Amino acid sequence: MYCSQSSNMDFLSYCKSLPKIELHAHLTGSLSDETVLRLLEAKRKEGAVNLPESAELTIQRGHNRTLEECFKLFGILHCLTDNLEAVKKITRDVIREFVSDNVRYLELRTTPKFIPDKMTKKDYIDTVLDTMIEEMKTNNIIVRLLLSIDRSRGVDDARNTVQLAKDYTTHEIYKTLICGIDVSGNPQSGKLTDYICVLEEAKKCGFRLAVHLAEIPSEEETLAVLKANIVDRIGHGTFIHLASGGSQELLDLVKHYQIPLEVCVSSNVKSGTVKNVQDHHLGLWRKEDHPLVICTDDKGIFSTSLSEEYCICAETFDLSKSDLIKMCISAVESTFLSHHEKHQLRLSIQDELNSLKGANNSFSGTD
Ligand code: IMP
Ligand code: ZN
Repeated sequence: MYCSQSSNMDFLSYCKSLPKIELHAHLTGSLSDETVLRLLEAKRKEGAVNLPESAELTIQRGHNRTLEECFKLFGILHCLTDNLEAVKKITRDVIREFVSDNVRYLELRTTPKFIPDKMTKKDYIDTVLDTMIEEMKTNNIIVRLLLSIDRSRGVDDARNTVQLAKDYTTHEIYKTLICGIDVSGNPQSGKLTDYICVLEEAKKCGFRLAVHLAEIPSEEETLAVLKANIVDRIGHGTFIHLASGGSQELLDLVKHYQIPLEVCVSSNVKSGTVKNVQDHHLGLWRKEDHPLVICTDDKGIFSTSLSEEYCICAETFDLSKSDLIKMCISAVESTFLSHHEKHQLRLSIQDELNSLKGANNSFSGTD
């Protein structure tokens, strides 16, 4: 799936020039081919055999894989990133790639990993946070972290993740960097309802929650989670709208609470949960005038970038330049930043948009 307007490369460059906000990016899923190749090389040097080639690890353009196959890929990528040196490298590479795509604010999410004799979950998180701090010093980007709960790992593991996040709230340097909790993992594994009590606990501790919801048809658990009124942002939300396989009750709840949707078009189409781009639920939610943020999900796995996602959405849903500009600005409201930080970010994004407009008269934002 290409942004066919990339035949109109000007439009892709336009999308690239926009100061963007990325709110749904899984660290391991965001690895570029270049990074994976370097990781493979490092493993070969260690003497590892039977390593797959990078191409097998990435969904090539136009090539689709089921969700199940994607989760097998994550397993392989996790083997390549089973040490702190690799964790540092991938965090650095992913942040820099978002920087070169003109992403000005990035909420990365990752599942803390424990590898016996190599790293504890705390080592893993410390390494990601240290690298974020380092990269923020030299690049024009703000990065925050969500700790991911993997719904296939059970409630005890989830409780442990929330406890870890809590431990960081008293840390002098790291305390502002972890801004929330994500719930992800194979939607066919585990029951989301089992996690509600842990998520309520996380909310009580002040964490914002981004939850993968209704990625596949799952009305019962989706309804229970929405009724608990704990979700601050919905990942995907594919089967919520009545017209995309959800129900009126789900639609009403999401509208009532005005929960923003993280929209990941290539991810949904390539993994087959949405038939084609035209059928993507983004179109339905736009008609509801509902808060939406265009995101990548796994830019490596799905061979995409945030600019390409903007381009695809614009082309498919007839979004004008000024619609895209509005989306860049309105995304600030959906971040997990404090009121004051949101204000600062909004100002800097608006400033940049204004100077882009000044630098290029055709950049009117009205066509
Ligand atoms: P990590 O947490 O940095 O290792 O990123 C990879 C993990 O993100 C996977 O193992 C999944 O748990 C989660 N993930 C990535 N993409 C998806 C998705 O589309 N649905 C649900 N979970 C996902
Ligand atoms: Zn996701």
